[in-house]
Amino acid sequence: MSLTVKVCRDSEELAVRAADFVVRSALDAIRERGRYMLALAGGSTPKAAYRLLARLPFEEAVDWAHTYLFFGDERFVPPEDPRSNFAMARHSLLEPAGVPPGHAFPVPTLMESAATAAKAYEATLREVFGKEDRQDPPQFDLILLGLGADGHTASLFPAAPALSVTDRWVVATPPGSLPPDVERVTLTYPVLNAARDILFLVSGPDKAEAVRDVLEGHFSRDRLPAAAIAPASGNVAWLIDGSAAKMLRAGTHDR
Ligand code: 6PG
Repeated sequence: MSLTVKVCRDSEELAVRAADFVVRSALDAIRERGRYMLALAGGSTPKAAYRLLARLPFEEAVDWAHTYLFFGDERFVPPEDPRSNFAMARHSLLEPAGVPPGHAFPVPTLMESAATAAKAYEATLREVFGKEDRQDPPQFDLILLGLGADGHTASLFPAAPALSVTDRWVVATPPGSLPPDVERVTLTYPVLNAARDILFLVSGPDKAEAVRDVLEGHFSRDRLPAAAIAPASGNVAWLIDGSAAKMLRAGTHDR
């Protein structure tokens, strides 16, 4: 696994670099494999990068006709709910970019329970990745991740049972300690750590301690779930704005 860390001046530079990373990742995947399998992060940080991706001129944009979009995690709320990660992505990226129907796979949050939705989403992954009866997890070309101030990523919260899951790709999980206080559906470590590339997008002073602990500390995944993101044959990149990087040792990361 390779690790790169780029400290950006501010959230604007972070968004520009994130959009550029996705465009280059898409070009490589489509050239080499004919399609691009991307899992989007939720929360608020990625929104600016999604908006930039949606506004790129055609010749510079992601080839959405060969791109398939999934969600690293989702709040178990209706798709129109303002807390929905799908709703955030639909407004900031899917609609303005003209992502074709059938190329974005939201978690089915109108099902009767988060557990049922998780099972259905795993079935969707199996179908789209062509792994109906396989155990080895799907390999995303890129998974975008955020970081919570408590060290969670996706919806893998500290000390949660979901952290120990090895035989399922998608699980339901109770709310974490941070809002919104709703059940979640999340990809599990087997899928996250099978990715070719992981890109963390982290902005804001409230994340500074978690950033330092993940990048420079030595904590168990129970204490710091993001620290266990380590794709065996993949690359992990971090784009961090100056305020989230302020507790990192000076001179240790690309600024
Ligand atoms: C979610 C996320 C979560 C998020 C972090 C950071 O559903 O909220 O996927 O893991 O990425 O909590 O969120 P912000 O970008 O809003 O700080």
